[in-house]
Amino acid sequence: MINSIITGVGHYVPERIVTNYDLAEVMDTNDEWIQERTGIIERRHIEPGSKITSTELGVKAAENALKDAGITAQDVDFILFATLSPDYYFPGNGVLVQKALGCKTIGAMDIRNQCSGFVYALSTADAFIKAGKYKNILVIGAEVHSFGLDMSDEGRGVSVIFGDGAGAVVVSATTEDRGIISTNMHSEGEYAEELAVLFPGTKLGWSDEILKDDHGITKKELYPHMNGNYVFKHAVTRFPESIQEALADANLKPEDVDLFVPHQANLRISQFVQRQLGFPDEKVFNNIQKYGNTTAASIPIALSEAKAAGKINKGDTVLITAFGAGFTWGSVLIKW
Ligand code: ACO
Repeated sequence: MINSIITGVGHYVPERIVTNYDLAEVMDTNDEWIQERTGIIERRHIEPGSKITSTELGVKAAENALKDAGITAQDVDFILFATLSPDYYFPGNGVLVQKALGCKTIGAMDIRNQCSGFVYALSTADAFIKAGKYKNILVIGAEVHSFGLDMSDEGRGVSVIFGDGAGAVVVSATTEDRGIISTNMHSEGEYAEELAVLFPGTKLGWSDEILKDDHGITKKELYPHMNGNYVFKHAVTRFPESIQEALADANLKPEDVDLFVPHQANLRISQFVQRQLGFPDEKVFNNIQKYGNTTAASIPIALSEAKAAGKINKGDTVLITAFGAGFTWGSVLIKW
């Protein structure tokens, strides 16, 4: 029987720290509001104007994950890249990683699914490995949000939340009796426009008109917009549902989980879910305070930091869960 285990984790974040106080200098916000509502103290942004891309951040995270796994890019036989901030409208970031790392002519696939992107990508890697198709899959989640946020007062409800960063894992085939033990993925497209960036997309049309000054594209279409209350309510319902589904599937109870690594959406959401499931503080890993919400990158960054801090060890039961735009959500349960 083939199982899929995570053999390497790594992350990379830009050096530039942007504090809540820095944001208060460019928009009508303050440290107290941001911390109280989201838990965020600071986030990382690329240097303005540097045009550093999510692929570039992802490649650095991937190199760290490969090193941690003790393999080279030549050992990778498939790439999965989760992002909502790709370098181009098309092609996707996966092929750019294939080129950057010089990974022969292996397959590369992009996963959208926003904040749930990493959970979807990891679940996909698990299925490919268990089907016997690949031996070492590189799974990357990376985002550059800062170039596309509305930094005016109008955008403050969204822009203070997001940060730039990348995380990656290597998922490998094993005959050992451990690894990914349960996955689930869900969606509810009814709420697609409650958290979205509408442009560019075919629904709004695509013509030379957009090149003109008065192109008719509004800020609401160009920048992310979010019905925050809606997102909050759905997240705190779907997180526990997905967790209970994963635990039931693996015949485990909340107390069997050694570490819960939630998508770093908002500290209040994580704390609400933690209380509902009864996870003690020492069994939950949060780092949103330092990085903000890095969507598809948040879980692999957290896994990488948790492992480096000695909070994840061989044999531990690690639970990851995400909820995000779409709406989409899901969990992966791992016997590490
Ligand atoms: N600084 C100061 N004031 C602000 C800011 C800001 N950055 N943003 C909004 N406000 C003001 C609003 O204008 C409003 O003022 P008013 O009462 O005078 O009209 C007031 O604060 C309250 O605004 P709300 O939007 O109702 O604030 P709320 O308490 O709902 O908090 C938040 C907003 C933090 C977004 C909340 O809805 C939330 O946590 N939602 C979950 C969304 C989330 O976590 N998204 C993450 C991305 S998606 C994902 O990863 C799942």
